Amino acid sequence: MRIRTIALLLILFGTLAVFSPADAQNAPEASERGKEVYEDSCAHCHGVEGRGDGSAAENLLPRPRDFTRGLYKIRSTEAGQLPTDQDLFDIITEGMPGSSMPEWETALSTDDRWQLVAYIKTFYPGFKENETPPKQITLAGKISYAEQSVEIGKELYVELGCVECHGNVGRGDGTSAPTLEDSWGFQTWPANLTQGWTFRGGYDTEDIFKRFIGGIAGSPMPAFEGDSFLNFGLTAEESKRLIELENRDEMTEAEEEESGKFYEKMDAAVDIALTIQEGGEVSAADIQTYNDAMKIVYEKSWHLANYVKSLMPEKRPEPAIGNNVLRSQYVQGALPAIDDAVWETFEARYFPLVGQVVIEPRQFNPTIDGVHVKSFYNDTEVAFLFIWDDRTHTTDETDENTGKTLEDALAVQFPVKVPQGPTAPKPYFLWGGRLPVYLWHWKASMPEQVTELTAKGINNAEVQEVQGELEVQSDYTDGQYKLWVKRALKTEDKKDLQLEPSVFVPIAFSAWDGSNGDVDTKRTMTSWYTFVLEPVPSSRRFVYPPLIAILSVGLLFGLRAFVQRRNSEEV
Ligand code: HEC
Ligand code: HEC
Repeated sequence: MRIRTIALLLILFGTLAVFSPADAQNAPEASERGKEVYEDSCAHCHGVEGRGDGSAAENLLPRPRDFTRGLYKIRSTEAGQLPTDQDLFDIITEGMPGSSMPEWETALSTDDRWQLVAYIKTFYPGFKENETPPKQITLAGKISYAEQSVEIGKELYVELGCVECHGNVGRGDGTSAPTLEDSWGFQTWPANLTQGWTFRGGYDTEDIFKRFIGGIAGSPMPAFEGDSFLNFGLTAEESKRLIELENRDEMTEAEEEESGKFYEKMDAAVDIALTIQEGGEVSAADIQTYNDAMKIVYEKSWHLANYVKSLMPEKRPEPAIGNNVLRSQYVQGALPAIDDAVWETFEARYFPLVGQVVIEPRQFNPTIDGVHVKSFYNDTEVAFLFIWDDRTHTTDETDENTGKTLEDALAVQFPVKVPQGPTAPKPYFLWGGRLPVYLWHWKASMPEQVTELTAKGINNAEVQEVQGELEVQSDYTDGQYKLWVKRALKTEDKKDLQLEPSVFVPIAFSAWDGSNGDVDTKRTMTSWYTFVLEPVPSSRRFVYPPLIAILSVGLLFGLRAFVQRRNSEEV
């Protein structure tokens, strides 16, 4: 049944009549101008002959596309089809987030971008040989976002095996994630579905839907066909019930019969589809059955797209700059521990991380998107909660090339001395220089420990002789790290940063994803951001001095003074 389905579906998509013909074949004839722009702007990545082997290509993952094979990931067309001209124009214009493919809207005129479309098509003869325009995916039956649709999508997500690559909650941490290769033989990671802004082809519901129906050519992610086109002809409800039945150790006679009916229905739909494919004769009723089955495939894809949408915030969080700086909230009494629900009530600040590309060895293909941070402090201590996604929990892998031990890690960087005023110089962001930095270094192999370092350069860090009493807790679940660190506001050690309310303190981060080869300078990092202990809430400042007055001058006298002061301030 399965093999037949695969065979069927591979051809099926070539022949569907329901799709509107492309009207997007509007590139001009290839010209000298296209070649010129290509050689100036694209060849150092994609190669002069379009083989994806430009001088910069070697360090990049995913590799720049080899245009000679005609494989395009981001298309509005059916599985196995070439992209439309408009698809190519759009991808050149917008670039491919999460890869090194830049956007060209700012650097190149519209005209030049069209010239490029025409030119890159010349690298693959299939574009010329294809007489019929590629079949476009129809978006007509869109199912709007609703809780019920999300629920159905969620079940399909497990049923269709998405979970094996993309993980329980979509962070790209499925069990197969570390083993995937693309069609060019390079390692590739499943998308983190909670970070839509890293998708290559956009994260509108329609974009996501098109990736299912059309597939992502060259990637191990299956198009919604073949093996993953599970239970063709069955509605979402029916396929759910069938899986339920199949998972039983034993079926009653009635259940046997029920499951038999589902198989009959599937087989019928597949048979008809095959007959249509072979050009055989089919009745009007058969066509109806077939159209119904295809409709269900589309519906399922919309439910899945809605589910994927439900996993991510509406847009990428704003980075922690401007008024958005990291503010530590004052609390009275004990600071919340890592699993305290109080953290949930408090919005995190987001610090986007980028590959370190200044000093060898560099990281051109970062896998960690950013770190989210929250903080609370009280009269004596400060606590931070750092949260970041990492697809794998790596504590001791060995780098094949360098023999170095790879592991996941995070470092938090502060200056040793807070610059006095906004224009005063900060230490160099790459772990200091003439002005030293103070660091907390956490490693996944020692999850309950943070080491204090002082650094005067990225290759010039020293473990501090005196290690402060930092409390540390951490957790790794479903592709996400949580790290909790608590330290005294003031310490005796001159090499430590000293903290007090209302003083703006530079803060920066480095993160290492061991399974991505991150080690030493090869890492992701931020430049300086700002962190501040929020002033102690005014109500408290207001109440305490009168209280002290009361105690020192005597109850009655003090109370009167308090009332007088209150009154005079209210005037
Ligand atoms: C810094 C390197 C770099 C430069 C410069 C660059 N690209 Fe790319 N390009 C890439 C990478 C990497 C990919 C593959 C990304 C992926 O597979 O996810 C890519 C993919 C593409 C694709 C395939 C889109 C798809 O749907 O699969 C097209 C088309 C493309 N580039 C066109 C261009 C054009 C035209 C230029 C010049 C204006 C250009 N690129 C310049 C790195 C680059
Ligand atoms: C065999 C592993 C695998 C399976 C199964 C799989 N995916 Fe993927 N998925 C990937 C990989 C790898 C990528 C990254 C593709 C690329 O950019 O080259 C990806 C990318 C994506 C993207 C981002 C597309 C973009 O524009 O960048 C979405 C959304 C997605 N998958 C959803 C799903 C859903 C939903 C399912 C189940 C129907 C699924 N995937 C099944 C491996 C898989």
